[in-house]
Amino acid sequence: MAEPRSATSIQTILKRIARGGTAPQFDPPRFHPFPARMPIWLAREFIENLSEPGETVLDPMVGSGTTAIAALLAGRNVIGTDIDPMALLLSRVGTTAYNAEKSARVLAEILDRAKRRLDRRLSVDGVRNNFEEDGQEFLKFWFPPRSQKELFALATEVAKIPAGKHRDLAWVVFSSLIIAKASGASYALDIARSRPHKVEDKPILNPLEGWELKSKSVLKRLPLASGPAEEVTADVHRADARKLSVPDRSVALVVTSPPYINAIDYMRTHKFSLLWMGHELSDLRDIRGTMIGTERGMYSPDSLPPKLEDRIVESIDAPTRLGVVRRYLSDMRRVLLEIHRVLKPGGAVVMALGPSVIASDKPDAGTVIGGLAESVGFLKVCSSFRPLEESRRSLPPPLAARRGNSLGLRMAGEVFLGLQKP
Ligand SMILES: C[S@@+](CC[C@H](N)C(=O)[O-])C[C@H]1O[C@@H](n2cnc3c(N)ncnc32)[C@H](O)[C@@H]1O
Repeated sequence: MAEPRSATSIQTILKRIARGGTAPQFDPPRFHPFPARMPIWLAREFIENLSEPGETVLDPMVGSGTTAIAALLAGRNVIGTDIDPMALLLSRVGTTAYNAEKSARVLAEILDRAKRRLDRRLSVDGVRNNFEEDGQEFLKFWFPPRSQKELFALATEVAKIPAGKHRDLAWVVFSSLIIAKASGASYALDIARSRPHKVEDKPILNPLEGWELKSKSVLKRLPLASGPAEEVTADVHRADARKLSVPDRSVALVVTSPPYINAIDYMRTHKFSLLWMGHELSDLRDIRGTMIGTERGMYSPDSLPPKLEDRIVESIDAPTRLGVVRRYLSDMRRVLLEIHRVLKPGGAVVMALGPSVIASDKPDAGTVIGGLAESVGFLKVCSSFRPLEESRRSLPPPLAARRGNSLGLRMAGEVFLGLQKP
């Protein structure tokens, strides 16, 4: 068994990151947008300093797959879970090695077949009839008729190829026609930042015209062009971070960034693509209800440690906000219990957190989530605040952050919390 991680190494790496002591590095552009992701170089820094080659790293809220990609590049096995189908798709593709020529061929064939399908006079009503009523309304509101027809032709052809890595890749190309930083196939602006609003006269990317370009840019940006570094594996699967299907004491290190409290509604954006992939809006709403950090919940929160309960009741007047905070902390307690269960003794946890949980005017995530972690058996090693470069923030626009409103404060930096299982 590997030596338990020392608390000193956790402290050293977190302090170094907070001081900006690691030379600022920038990630190469990613193959698909995703809000609030961690830079790959940063995840790799944690992984290389806090685990050994061949060990297993876990990210139970893997998002776009940052931890998983970094772990493979560093020669570690990785388990990544999430409940958002878009996160799982991106993580699977990010951790898979693709042969560029073969993939380009598959993608080009999809385009050819979609063009032929469109020649057979697809009507826009005929397209929408394939969806439930709420889906039809959604498509009509957000997508120009031409986009609807072309996306339908492409989606039908993608769905026809056998399930597996090439179909996944094709869905990523498909989604990048819609969820795009600049122009996409819908009327939605700001869609890559998860706060779409409708602008009918914005430039529209016609899907059949955009497919080839998007195929090239996705293929060029895949992180594992030459395969993982060693004989290591990535296990990306759907699971709720509060109830993992990972064996007890099997993981050496956890690197994760849970959703910030009430900040980003991942489903609001992802449904623009997922609807075309066969997910119904009602299913996506159900998934949204089980997301940590969202306003609505499908279950009542567990009770919190009495000191923490007193603290939130004393600090928060508004009943709605109290409910949201209580639910967030209850969810985070369950996540911490699961992480504690699957971690080997001596194993480390690094969490990137939104700076404020209870307070709206100062970073308190280190003490609040750190205290919660101690209550489930962790040793809190340290926490540190790291300001985020403006260009890297996903929400809100930098101006709001400069004005110092509370949402701005939350997103102007992040807290890194270092824990150890004794
Ligand atoms: C801040 S993002 C993670 C970003 C990731 N570190 C990256 O670099 O892309 C938080 C993730 O937590 C996921 N999540 C929310 N609730 C969850 C739950 N109950 N179980 C598992 N994942 C969940 C969201 O779907 C989202 O992908």
